[in-house]
Amino acid sequence: MAITYNAENALFRIENARFSYVFFVNSKGVLQHLYFGKPIGETDLSSADLGWDWSKTYLSADGAEKIYEDNYYNDRSMAEVPSHGLMDKSGAQFVIEKSGGVTATSFVYKKHRIYDGKPKLSALPSTHGDNAQTLEITLDDVYGNERLLLSYTVYGDLGALIRNASIINCGKTEIRVKRAYSLGLDLPRSDFDLMHFHGDWCLERFAERKPLANGRFTVESTMGRSSHEKNPFAVLCDRHATEDTGEAYAFSFVYSGNFTLAANVDKWRRTRVLLGICDEDFSFALGSGETFEVPEGVLVYSDRGLGGVSRTMHDLVRNNLITHKKAKAARPVLFNSWEGCYLDFDTQSILAYAENAAKIGAELFVLDDGWFGKRDTDCSSLGDWFVADGKIDLKKVIDKCHSLGMKFGIWFEPEMINPDSDLYRTHPDYALGDGGYERTLSRHQLVLDTSRKEVADRLFKDMSAILDKYEIDYIKWDHNRNIGEITGSDTPYGEVCHRLILGTYSLLDRLQKKYPEIFFEGCASGGGRFDLGMLYYNPQIWTSDETDPVQRLFIQYGTSYAYPLSVMGSHISKNPITSYTAKGRIALFGTYGIEMNPCLLSESEREEVREVNEIYKKYHCEVIQNGDLYRLASPFEGNYTSMMSVSKDKSKALVLFANVLKENNRYRFIKLKGLDPDKRYSNSRRARRCVSLLWRAARAAATIRKAAAIPTAITTTTEAAA
Ligand code: GLA
Repeated sequence: MAITYNAENALFRIENARFSYVFFVNSKGVLQHLYFGKPIGETDLSSADLGWDWSKTYLSADGAEKIYEDNYYNDRSMAEVPSHGLMDKSGAQFVIEKSGGVTATSFVYKKHRIYDGKPKLSALPSTHGDNAQTLEITLDDVYGNERLLLSYTVYGDLGALIRNASIINCGKTEIRVKRAYSLGLDLPRSDFDLMHFHGDWCLERFAERKPLANGRFTVESTMGRSSHEKNPFAVLCDRHATEDTGEAYAFSFVYSGNFTLAANVDKWRRTRVLLGICDEDFSFALGSGETFEVPEGVLVYSDRGLGGVSRTMHDLVRNNLITHKKAKAARPVLFNSWEGCYLDFDTQSILAYAENAAKIGAELFVLDDGWFGKRDTDCSSLGDWFVADGKIDLKKVIDKCHSLGMKFGIWFEPEMINPDSDLYRTHPDYALGDGGYERTLSRHQLVLDTSRKEVADRLFKDMSAILDKYEIDYIKWDHNRNIGEITGSDTPYGEVCHRLILGTYSLLDRLQKKYPEIFFEGCASGGGRFDLGMLYYNPQIWTSDETDPVQRLFIQYGTSYAYPLSVMGSHISKNPITSYTAKGRIALFGTYGIEMNPCLLSESEREEVREVNEIYKKYHCEVIQNGDLYRLASPFEGNYTSMMSVSKDKSKALVLFANVLKENNRYRFIKLKGLDPDKRYSNSRRARRCVSLLWRAARAAATIRKAAAIPTAITTTTEAAA
């Protein structure tokens, strides 16, 4: 890994074993991008025709081609920081309104420094870790008094480049930042396929791949959160790229709010990628001397296809993003009460749940929604974070869990409020959207204005009171609606959405500092906020409210392009479509947990769950949680889903194979990947047993449903001989 600067040609090179990234300062002081791709090592670039100033040329009277020396046409260059208001119309990185209505913005180089390590962002989640090197460049705007601090960080030989930007108002008057993107990247070609991951509630991250065409394609959220509908992650890859071959570039955002990820193919057949906070509802005032910190952007390069991109993202998330100290340790078998009883429980029934959950091997019992205020329906009590004493004796439940050898976890939805709550009755102003008209309720709730310090402080106080009083080991942090109206806040309109997210991050930060032992799982009606910003605080996120195993095959497969299995909340549920064994196989390719009424399980079903638990305990931490994922067959392309995860030392692997439509007898051939050719592997005995269980499951499902769609799944474990 090395970041170098060659003063002779003002050339910056950021390189490691996975990629090289090169740009230079042109004669106008503007940063011009040159190369991002396969490592170019010692290649001497001094003689390269860099198209130094790609100025417009003309034919002089004597027939010679000459350059308009006085006219730097920046639209012809590959920009490192795409400007605004000049000739380049392919999309600016920043739009800033300055005094007198000036909006032209072009930053020129002032100075730089290269150092070991990576600074933390002050109010935003960011990557971190040892073995980092950072290039920081200071640039000044030609048309105003703003200063731009750009930074580039590389971690050892990881195929990821982290980009940061901060704008400082060095002038005397206020400026308004109307667009703040983390990065612009120009690639000198457009023959790419674009992959992005769209969805809906219970249908998250469906992979879509299509040829990039002329014009602009945008993946964007204006929902106030990263959303179910879109995800702040996309890939540009060679048209022929596969899981293992071809070049691929991935883009990701360490942020949980509105975002824009755009790919613009212009007349030069150049592709410009832009990634940052969505402009809609965004306009941020910056007083003299103030700084605006743009959320961090992640660039990934791989010449090993989509699988290479994913494994880099997975390592980045696990090693350089998640902060929780317990994230890498073996996680307990989690039991969650939600799908078993929803809000309908009392102390006796939950005690029975706890006893039966322990019998099927649960090690962490999570009491989901319904334990607070007067929460018997989802119409009331969000905001009232005090125990519903008449409904549940929380201490008794926690003591019971502990006496059964289980840890205890609880659900919160801090950022929301029901109009039917004590908090709303005393502080209606805490809810967003009061514009003197009827507000949109969603799931009967409104959004709390966490952009206001007093609101976040109140949440911190109320949640701390619960966490101080009860022995709580885990929190499920939910967020069950999009942001609608953003009026009625003391915070200026264009700042509300961003400050809401900052408020949430700060609340998470304060709580996690105060309670470092508590493990957090994120959730937003399932996977509505599945992004790097949330993962910084929550080492796992409930992937989807959809627990149907067939749907889950798609959701988990799609999610795996960007996010490691170790973060994908994934449970065996009561869903009757197939056996617990088959459901367990699929749930094992996520964080794994159990979610149903455990009192209703038959003895043979209990046995099935226990068997899945055994595989979990034996292999999960090493193979799934901290191993390397290889996708073998995509559910988006055929009847089979197959993937495998290999421990980092390549001594063990778990393989999932599932077919959606039932097929009669036939061979299915799957070529394993990621194993060490010098090792001999054998299937574990348990795996053979799994196959026979599979057939039993398939037969049972066939007699029950007589439908064509009968999912079956096997997991086989492969271990290298000692
Ligand atoms: C959301 C979550 C569920 C559950 C409910 C509780 O929908 O995704 O898992 O926690 O809220 O209301």
